[in-house]
Amino acid sequence: MRRETYPPIISKMPRLLHGGDYNPEQWPKEIRIADNDLMKQANWNAVSMGIFSWVSLELEEGKFTFEWLDEMMDMQAQNGRVVGLATPSAAAPAWLSKRYPETIRTGSDGVRRKHGNRVNYCWTSPIYRQKTSEMATRLAERYGKHPALAYWHVSNEFGGECHCDLCQEAFREWLKARYGSLDALNAAYWTAFWSHTFTDWSQLESPGEPHGETAIIGLTVDWRRFTSDRIIDFYLNETNALRAAAPGVPATTNLMGTYTGLDPFKIAPHVDFIAWDSYPWFGLTPWDVDSWITTSFIHDLNRGLKGGKPFLLMECSPSSSNWYPVMGLKRPNAHMLEGLQAIAHGADGVQYFQWRQGRGSSEQYHGAVVAHNNRTDARVFQEVAALGKTLGQLTPVAGAPFKAEVALIHDWESAWAIEATVAPRLDKKNYTKTVIEHYEHFWEQGIAVEVIDSECELSGYKMVIAPMLYMIKPGVAERLAQFVKDGGTLVTTYWSGWVDQNTLAFQGGYPEPLRSALGIRVEEIDALYPDQHNQVVVEKSGLLDRGSKYAASELCERVQAETAEVLAVYGEDFYAGDPALTRNIYGKGQAIYVASRNEDAFNRDLFAGLTEQLGIKPCVEGSWTKGVTVQCREGATADFLFVLNCTDKEATITLNEQGLQNAVDGTPAASSFQLPAFGSRVLIRSLTPQQPVALPEVAAPAAS
Ligand code: GLA
Ligand code: ZN
Repeated sequence: MRRETYPPIISKMPRLLHGGDYNPEQWPKEIRIADNDLMKQANWNAVSMGIFSWVSLELEEGKFTFEWLDEMMDMQAQNGRVVGLATPSAAAPAWLSKRYPETIRTGSDGVRRKHGNRVNYCWTSPIYRQKTSEMATRLAERYGKHPALAYWHVSNEFGGECHCDLCQEAFREWLKARYGSLDALNAAYWTAFWSHTFTDWSQLESPGEPHGETAIIGLTVDWRRFTSDRIIDFYLNETNALRAAAPGVPATTNLMGTYTGLDPFKIAPHVDFIAWDSYPWFGLTPWDVDSWITTSFIHDLNRGLKGGKPFLLMECSPSSSNWYPVMGLKRPNAHMLEGLQAIAHGADGVQYFQWRQGRGSSEQYHGAVVAHNNRTDARVFQEVAALGKTLGQLTPVAGAPFKAEVALIHDWESAWAIEATVAPRLDKKNYTKTVIEHYEHFWEQGIAVEVIDSECELSGYKMVIAPMLYMIKPGVAERLAQFVKDGGTLVTTYWSGWVDQNTLAFQGGYPEPLRSALGIRVEEIDALYPDQHNQVVVEKSGLLDRGSKYAASELCERVQAETAEVLAVYGEDFYAGDPALTRNIYGKGQAIYVASRNEDAFNRDLFAGLTEQLGIKPCVEGSWTKGVTVQCREGATADFLFVLNCTDKEATITLNEQGLQNAVDGTPAASSFQLPAFGSRVLIRSLTPQQPVALPEVAAPAAS
């Protein structure tokens, strides 16, 4: 039996990619030649070039200098590496800023910035768009058919806002297209409040501190939507030029995890594969498990952006990042763990920023494969090379799907609305943090989760979890209700279904559009002071044990059950005895409502109860130390089980499974074993256990 897998993300390199940012324009020829050899030792098969190379490609307006890049492209091809070639628009040359000041970004204070830094350009400026699309065309004409070219890396880490007059005008056009009439806009913005009614489109301006409008919540959210759309439009300006001059070459851009400035679900259809940059800040407690869980969550989110397709980890640090407040070193084994974690969740490659540590400027101390020590026997170089070797041995993992029966919603527009709203507490709104808290149990148990937004397809999941889904956009409630009717389990929480797409509050009791599915009505919400707590007391066994108590804090809603059964009640305060957890049987499914923000143990126990009830299983049964996870990719003839010890202590793992093989060499593997601190192991579970999986020869990487 052979299962379907995805085609390789890079057809020229049908294996896991290993490489990263390479900036040869910063180095003399002898170093570039040495680098070529060192890249082989580091087991690199891919490089990203040209990301910030504008001035090296166009020293003066119209004076192009591609020769160095020609040489570098040829060198990669001759040495079997593929190239993600960037358009250089992320950092403008000084000559451009001086000659065309309109290309520089304007802040929310209305002040145009000075030249410098990066991603400091206007999203709208016709000159910037013309110059960047011309450059894209030249790159595509010159390298579109180059044997090393694998894909276009369009610009770099899109982010930030521009409030210049050109962007303001574009915003007004965007608003006209969205609302059609000022009456519709005024209604959506509830502008009769404080005499904010607009009587001419020209009166509309971008909102924001320190001098601008901050009172119209709908306007604030629209500005974020607009900026996100503008970024996509800017991306398409370059991408269309590339596609026109070099049809068929895939294009992507590097996203930034849960960064809120760009809705990744909106740009996803426009990129050929998803790529993202992961720089987990391992917090003030060095290397805590929570940071690993967050990184896993974001990998799942990136996989979810294109409905489960493999993605590329475009950047991570080979060591630490110099912009952390404290530059803690990556602990031994942690590099392998970080790389395999990405692959486990669906990445088909691990890349870095950057190849060689620069001698100057703001990232001179950022981790790099070749550090200032310039040695291949250095710890970081060795660990990078070891990961590269392992990725070569894991070639059959490339394209293997990752499948989940649980979907967790993280919705950008809802996040923007939560950020903008002035209630029910101004601190600790914690949208993303809360979503991740709903992920933890599954991660610990090795149960696969897909992270989606509220407009994604729901069929195929057994359970959909939608924490704090504050904004319900048109059609979403109907789809969630239908999902339940058809037999699905929906879990949602306090602070869900309060407003429509315009941030106007629903009438009649939240979460209004989901009321019949949930069988409840929210009357009001109580925000608790830091040392104030309530309790959730379980009244009915089934999902949780009767009599169990869990601490609730920060946010507690007062809920009336309509058709729902009450599973738990509040234990304290004037609403003691009121519903805190309800379940409504609706059609063939059930909808669960969690009325308060509860301690972690509540989520763990609730999801343990639900997964047991629904028969949702981990990818492999067994037991392991807390802080270890097991994730699975389903290859053509075998499952690949990634066992990841995300703790700084030795861990014990026992899998209820016989006949496993070690993925790196195909040898038989024990099902009970120890992993050192930050240790990791990949195991193969053959689909035909009597027939161990034959690993393909790992040939030297080759570009065709
Ligand atoms: C980002 C950028 C890179 C580099 C790294 C450093 O991801 O894309 O150019 O600045 O951060 O961590
Ligand atoms: Zn602008």
